[in-house]
Amino acid sequence: MLEGKKIILGICGSIAAYKAATLVRLLVKAGANVQVLMTPDATNFITPLTLSTLSKRPVLVEYFTPETGEWNNHVELGLWADLMIIAPASANTLAKIATGLSDNLLTAVYLSAKCPVYFAPAMDLDMWKHEATQHNIGLLQSFGNILISPGKGELASGLHGEGRLAEPEVIVAFLETDIKSKLPLYGQNILVTAGPTYEAIDPVRFIGNHSSGKMGFAIADQFASLGANVTLIAGPTTEKSKYHDINRIDIISAADMLDACLRFFPDSKACVMCAAVADYTPVTVSVQKIKKQDKELHIDLKKTVDILKTMGQQKANGQVLVGFALETNDEEKNAIEKLQKKNLDLIVLNSLNDKGAGFKSDTNKITIIDSQLQKSIFKLKHKEQVAVDICNKVTELINAKN
Ligand code: PMT
Repeated sequence: MLEGKKIILGICGSIAAYKAATLVRLLVKAGANVQVLMTPDATNFITPLTLSTLSKRPVLVEYFTPETGEWNNHVELGLWADLMIIAPASANTLAKIATGLSDNLLTAVYLSAKCPVYFAPAMDLDMWKHEATQHNIGLLQSFGNILISPGKGELASGLHGEGRLAEPEVIVAFLETDIKSKLPLYGQNILVTAGPTYEAIDPVRFIGNHSSGKMGFAIADQFASLGANVTLIAGPTTEKSKYHDINRIDIISAADMLDACLRFFPDSKACVMCAAVADYTPVTVSVQKIKKQDKELHIDLKKTVDILKTMGQQKANGQVLVGFALETNDEEKNAIEKLQKKNLDLIVLNSLNDKGAGFKSDTNKITIIDSQLQKSIFKLKHKEQVAVDICNKVTELINAKN
């Protein structure tokens, strides 16, 4: 959730400022770009050098750099950030920002920031409990700022109670959960299939196809970026997901894929069946490697179960089922036939007649057809962008059906 996010971390004068070093390290490890701002008092507790080394950016304290006269533009900084965290937030800084005082760079950036602002207070027990502090916190929350509550425990004063800065791991987990909870598909289970299936002939040979998995993996990643709990059932592929929390189930054959789909589909809000599933599989699998013979070799094939059609029969109200159609001729007619026969909500048509579409390439060109036979035609795009178009349509349908 924090990958690529531009984060301003404001550090105030507090003994808890030493924990900011771990916080910066965790944010950077999560892929965020971190710009540290410190109040002048904070520099008495931890050095800017430590924080600039960890954040890989100069730390800003003053409105301008005394040596060069370079101005640190608080408005630009405020607009640059995707989110701002003030941690540790001292009682003094909380009071200033609650009343709009901007007598240092950190408080001025706070006033200029248009992004969500989180604050994690750290102070002594009695300062935390004081009506003035609680009033200021209430004011900040009424502005839409988000409190990361302090923990209880031993305080720097030797007293025991509430006021300890939340641990850096807790702050990062809080940010990730809060960001995710605001995404459009937060909490929704989505099933995606990707890649080919392999149907064994003997221990060394199989019937497969050219699917690389790229299209299905891009769809799974896009759903994950929208906050969904994604289960990705993948045939043999070298593709990797961008998101570590995608539940990946590796399968080999059409029969394996059927089992996995039927296990996860009932609890899924939507399923996008992008895998290129074998339509036929050998009647028998030779236990030994089949020896070369002088005459022709014939392999008897039987039909596999149509997984999508089976899910279409089981589909409950509120579930969205999406199929793909990979065509070489009579594209629209065939796609509509599949849409209707398999009881789908959408079918994504890609044709091997379009250059750069279909198997293996990084691009695809699709037409999405809905159950009312409304068509949306898209131009050739990178598969990541194609996935955005597909996931947007699915999200619209989930919202319309629920
Ligand atoms: O993986 P890439 O290299 O990125 O390529 C992407 C892709 C070309 C594989 C993908 O865009 C695509 O078109 N996937 C579906 C391929 C396919 O099997 O199409 P189909 O028209 O044969 O099947 C129609 C639908 O029925 C598909 O959703 C398929 O998953 C499903 N099906 C097919 C057979 C079967 N036994 N069970 C199924 O559920």
